[in-house]
Amino acid sequence: MNTLTNKKVLLGITGSIAAYKSADLVRRLREQGAEVRVVMTAAATEFITPLTLQALSGQRVHSLILDAEAEAAMGHIELARWAEVVLVAPATADFLAKLAYGHANDLLSTLCITTTAPITVAPAMNQQMWQAPVTQENCQRLQERGIKIFGPAMGSQACGEIGAGRMLEPLELVQCLEGLFKKGSLVNHQILITAGPTREDIDPVRFITNRSSGRMGYAIASAAYAAGAQVTLVNGPVSLSPPLGVQISPVYNAQEMLEAVMTHIPTTDIFIAAAAVADYRPVQQATQKLKKKEAVMQLTLERTPDILATVANLPNPPFTVGFAAETNNLIDYARSKLQRKKLDMIAANQVGIEGVGFDSEENALHVFWTEGSVELSRCSKKEIANKLVDLIIQRYQLKKRLSS
Ligand code: C5P
Repeated sequence: MNTLTNKKVLLGITGSIAAYKSADLVRRLREQGAEVRVVMTAAATEFITPLTLQALSGQRVHSLILDAEAEAAMGHIELARWAEVVLVAPATADFLAKLAYGHANDLLSTLCITTTAPITVAPAMNQQMWQAPVTQENCQRLQERGIKIFGPAMGSQACGEIGAGRMLEPLELVQCLEGLFKKGSLVNHQILITAGPTREDIDPVRFITNRSSGRMGYAIASAAYAAGAQVTLVNGPVSLSPPLGVQISPVYNAQEMLEAVMTHIPTTDIFIAAAAVADYRPVQQATQKLKKKEAVMQLTLERTPDILATVANLPNPPFTVGFAAETNNLIDYARSKLQRKKLDMIAANQVGIEGVGFDSEENALHVFWTEGSVELSRCSKKEIANKLVDLIIQRYQLKKRLSS
């Protein structure tokens, strides 16, 4: 049985073009055995008809607060009590603002301040609106009140722009909701993971990168999700299918990875930096393809931001785990990196051995923390990720106990 079987999901739909995906979302939720009741704002009914949602949910759709007929069937207070979880998808910038400030001027906003069920939102808006400081402040307020924000995803938008602001896909939202009802030692914990390589452009057709496949980070994300965590994966360019239940934030270069990580850090309990971030990038990126001329050419490179060290040096850092890929002196380098970057743990792997580490199916890790270390012998990345996550949970829980 899956975690959504017989769960009562109140789906709120607000006025965004992404509302067309809500129809599919209702189907997907019902496929998982959830009971779904739909509440639409007036603006949402301009994008998709209540009749569609009624047909798919098998229930009358609610949209008006002053609706004598609806109140006679299931009143708004009853509806708020009925819900075991509220999902507002899509949630517009306006709705997030209303929710942040407790407005109650339509049925959906009223239900949100009436219900005791957990509230979750899936923002959908133009990327400038999502990045606007006021929207980010509103989201911060919502997260401080325990409201979960699913997404938004990066990508092309209905308005023709590209950026963060797309509503997560229906199946991703189903997985996020499933995560809410899961049991495991990481339930109610937010884990942020970086994975894959980054690409640092030289010119429009060339870039600097490395052989990281992202498989280790993806395997860790799956293991953390299986342990009950809400997982966000910030990954550079990889060709892997997204792990089940994990929120993906794709990025291109080190700067974008830093920015994506920093937006999630305030709500992160454990940060695992498994990405092979390029250490250097060209000081200048040519806007046109560089022509070959001399026999020798020089590229001037500069350091990229150290994402892991930036996070670990915050005033209130999450539990921070780094990776160290080394060809020699593994123990010394790993231990000094642990200290220098002020990490809680570091997982070191020997690269340059055929079949393990970069771009391969298997790995072997030597994991260090200030007081000890353990060797995880060679096995599949999936198995080693499970062992590593178990170890992280142990050290994280110990640290929490000692600091409380
Ligand atoms: O210093 P070094 O690159 O060997 O450290 C490796 C660790 O630091 C990995 O966990 C990697 O994800 C992280 N890192 C980072 N940002 C960088 C370079 C490395 O987060 N610019």
